[in-house]
Amino acid sequence: VFLLRSSASAEVVNHVRRLSTTSTKNVKVAVCGASGGIGQPLALLLKQSPLVTKLSLYDIVHTPGVAADLSHIDSPAVTSGHNGPENLKDALSGMDVVIIPAGVPRKPGMTRDDLFNTNASIVRDLAEACAKYCPKALIGIISNPVNSTVPIASEVLKKAGTYDKRRIFGVTTLDVVRSNAFIAEAKKLDPRKVNVPVIGGHAGITIIPVISQATPSVSFEKNQLEALTLRIQDAGTEVVKAKAGSGSATLSMAYAGARFAFSLCKAINGESNVVECAYIASDITESPYFATPIKLGKDGVADNLGLGKLSSYEQDLVQAAIPELQKSIKKGEDFVNKSS
Ligand code: NAI
Repeated sequence: VFLLRSSASAEVVNHVRRLSTTSTKNVKVAVCGASGGIGQPLALLLKQSPLVTKLSLYDIVHTPGVAADLSHIDSPAVTSGHNGPENLKDALSGMDVVIIPAGVPRKPGMTRDDLFNTNASIVRDLAEACAKYCPKALIGIISNPVNSTVPIASEVLKKAGTYDKRRIFGVTTLDVVRSNAFIAEAKKLDPRKVNVPVIGGHAGITIIPVISQATPSVSFEKNQLEALTLRIQDAGTEVVKAKAGSGSATLSMAYAGARFAFSLCKAINGESNVVECAYIASDITESPYFATPIKLGKDGVADNLGLGKLSSYEQDLVQAAIPELQKSIKKGEDFVNKSS
């Protein structure tokens, strides 16, 4: 009787476990570049969320310390640190989401494209590792120049035969977060209630806040609108200047990167109506990659929501951005295809 009982109760325990695995939402997230200015606060935000059950921290330096430190936080995510390329297999195997903030940031006077020479090969190598060890992961790239690093990673995955255009994203969430903050400030609104889509890319004139589609609806005089648009496009440089040589946005980027990663986690868990703007492979314009609002699903992009109705000012911004985007995309693609 005892044996029967215990096997029956074991069955119940297993059933509950099965149920709780489906409802406790196991999502394994890796951060590559986890010891950096963005990586550390991003890892902290991910660690404190119950959406993340495993947190894998990869960098070429300092990950044992960062992981040991975070692992003492009393939240469920099991945290591990992996240092150096020989440990990429352990860092990435089984990951559902990989967020990449690896690479050098800007110093005053630099454009994002000035980072190309250093960051292109970092992103290429990490994409190769993703293709090998977690080919089904959703990949969010933060490393600049995003307009080129997303095409670089995509070409690498194509070569490896694991490319799925739904699974790779340039993280442009910080542009949305900044737009929300600046518009809330200008109109004295609660920033948590403001949402402004940002389309195009992630550098200078390719950053296009679609203020005409803001919720709640807002309106500005022409010069105020132009000044606000310019401030959003140059907001990264505002931080680079203020940090005076010590780097670019890290804390706001960590916040934005965590928001994007959580949206991916929610979509993986089947939550509906998860929408984020991101820079993805796209046939919405003549630029082969373009950021627009996207409905996310468990396999990444479920639906590209497109440009929506743009004002004529915004249409002009899109036209100005396209040649610049095409140039950055070609530079990224050539880096992978012409150097091998
Ligand atoms: P950081 O220099 O503080 O940290 C970069 C980290 O990457 C370092 O810990 C470094 O050891 C690591 N790293 C270097 N090579 C690596 C490799 N091969 N594999 C793994 N890790 C490697 O720089 P920060 O401030 O964290 O910025 C990181 C990147 O994010 C920069 O490229 C920056 O331009 C970009 N960024 C992007 C934003 C966006 O909106 N998408 C906003 C702000 C920054």
